[in-house]
Amino acid sequence: MCGIVGYVGEKKVTPLLLEALEKLEYRGYDSAGIALMTDNGIGIKKTRGRIADLRKIVEESGECGSTVGIGHTRWATHGEPSDVNSHPHLSKSGRVAVVHNGIIENYMELRDFLITRGYEFAGETDSEVVSELIDYCYSGDPVYAVRKAELQLKGSYALGIIFSDFPDQIFALRKDSPLIVGIGERENFIASDIPAILKYTRDVFRLDERELAVLTRRSVTVLNSFGERVDHVIEHIEWDSGAAEKGGYPHFMIKEIMEQPDAISKTIAPRLAEGGGIELGFKSISDEDLKNIESIKITACGSAYHVGVVAKHLLKKWLNIPVEAELASEFRYDDPIINERTLVIVISQSGETLDSLYALREAKAKGARTVSIVNVVASSIANESEEVLYTWAGPEISVATTKAYSTQLVLIELFGIRMAQLRGTMSPERSAALIESIKGIPEGVSHILKDVQTIQYMASLYFNSQSVFFLGRNIDFALSLEASLKLKEISYIHSEAYAAGELKHGTISLIEDDTLVIALCTYRPLLEKMISNIKEVKARGAKVIAIINEDDIQTGTVADHIIRIPECDEIATPSLTIVPLQLFAYYIASLKGCDIDKPRNLAKSVTVE
Ligand code: AGP
Repeated sequence: MCGIVGYVGEKKVTPLLLEALEKLEYRGYDSAGIALMTDNGIGIKKTRGRIADLRKIVEESGECGSTVGIGHTRWATHGEPSDVNSHPHLSKSGRVAVVHNGIIENYMELRDFLITRGYEFAGETDSEVVSELIDYCYSGDPVYAVRKAELQLKGSYALGIIFSDFPDQIFALRKDSPLIVGIGERENFIASDIPAILKYTRDVFRLDERELAVLTRRSVTVLNSFGERVDHVIEHIEWDSGAAEKGGYPHFMIKEIMEQPDAISKTIAPRLAEGGGIELGFKSISDEDLKNIESIKITACGSAYHVGVVAKHLLKKWLNIPVEAELASEFRYDDPIINERTLVIVISQSGETLDSLYALREAKAKGARTVSIVNVVASSIANESEEVLYTWAGPEISVATTKAYSTQLVLIELFGIRMAQLRGTMSPERSAALIESIKGIPEGVSHILKDVQTIQYMASLYFNSQSVFFLGRNIDFALSLEASLKLKEISYIHSEAYAAGELKHGTISLIEDDTLVIALCTYRPLLEKMISNIKEVKARGAKVIAIINEDDIQTGTVADHIIRIPECDEIATPSLTIVPLQLFAYYIASLKGCDIDKPRNLAKSVTVE
């Protein structure tokens, strides 16, 4: 949830670090800073605010010509956003500077210890403790000092470190938080994510758990926790630089909404085999294992969790076994009932959400078979699960997820169909029909995306709403959860997703004249009930927008507005229904002038508990 970057080479490091940090602002942006290796030791420039604020400070102080440095953009966890709490943290001795992404759970204990050794602390962060701890452990050997300090750390960390005694080197260490190494010509890089350095190199690898990297301009040495040198396969990134830019759209979010047909196609295509087969590419979990699974738990956070709630309904029906969706932050502390015949599916766009990573570890510790559905290759959750199914959505920059949500949804549906095929709980004809429906989803989404005017018009009617209710039943309720989160997180309008049948048990008291209610009415078996619920809220003065199936001729007689989704099978319906709701949230936030790609208080990847 913070972004870190480091460079050692021959270019002027200041502009390079600032530009790289701008590409990482989606990971957190309440303060920023850089540490440069200069002829007079380590120089620090840091400030509360955005990279733009940092750039101003740096430009006022003039270029120092340094070619080695580290940088950081922060999403505050310990200590409020402030100058003193921003990174990098330079030890009082001036010997060690650190940038940190993650959370040190025992930092107070370490801080108290260091105070007894004469150290003082200016801020309230765990990261400042790390810089002083490394300083305390340093006696001339940086690798020894970092490893010795690491022995005391509990929690998660991706660290970029420089030592004033070693002006042509940078050091990197990670546990739980992501860190990549970029390989250049007479220059090398570290970064939290690829877009930060894509302009300079396409050759990267991800540090594995507790690996320590030593970078000079001509070499990269990686040591495992035993001190052994390890080699990594270099991954050549194919993304064009535009893929990580806005591509002409005003925001990453609308670009990524529009990319959904392509992202869905790219995700399903490699899994579809001849004759209606589905290729999972599993290496550890066999078809026999999948046949013997007795229950499934899907665990994730936020929108990824909402995918799980939709999938729970479908997989339960297809497989006829218990399927539950649980919030990862609850799952870990709920003593889940798990054994070796339990399949735990962890869904995560970033693959670094710490709640979800810890839930995965809990599931593994209890003997579950684990599959992750992840968008970032070789991310922590991907690496630590027994099997991984990658969504090929490409980089998702907007904090509010859209294309990752949509690709996760189709991928877990394909997985569910494959399991049903193996377990004989779905006829070949039915699975073939469902696969055909999934193949038609990109076209259905494209159809909706071609006609956004109706949704823009409705957004113009309701963007001043103070509170919005999303109602639905069964899968439509699951979709309401995601629709509500989209609106809340980018427009800051309070909204609630409510099981339509539950509204009358209390919360209907909040419905008054002109309250906006968005009724999801695509789940056919309960349409009549939804129409009754619409009448209930209309009777109390609500304005109702209904999302309905193409052939629905009833709901329009009771709702104030309707948005139709194209005719499709039950399996495709969720993927189509969510699109107008994503667009509705986007256009409302646009009309409100919100910072859509970087909503306040949020970060793209939440790597703290
Ligand atoms: C999505 O719009 C939200 N920004 C957030 O809920 C997100 O889905 C959640 O933090 C999980 O992230 P992950 O998919 O990277 O694990």
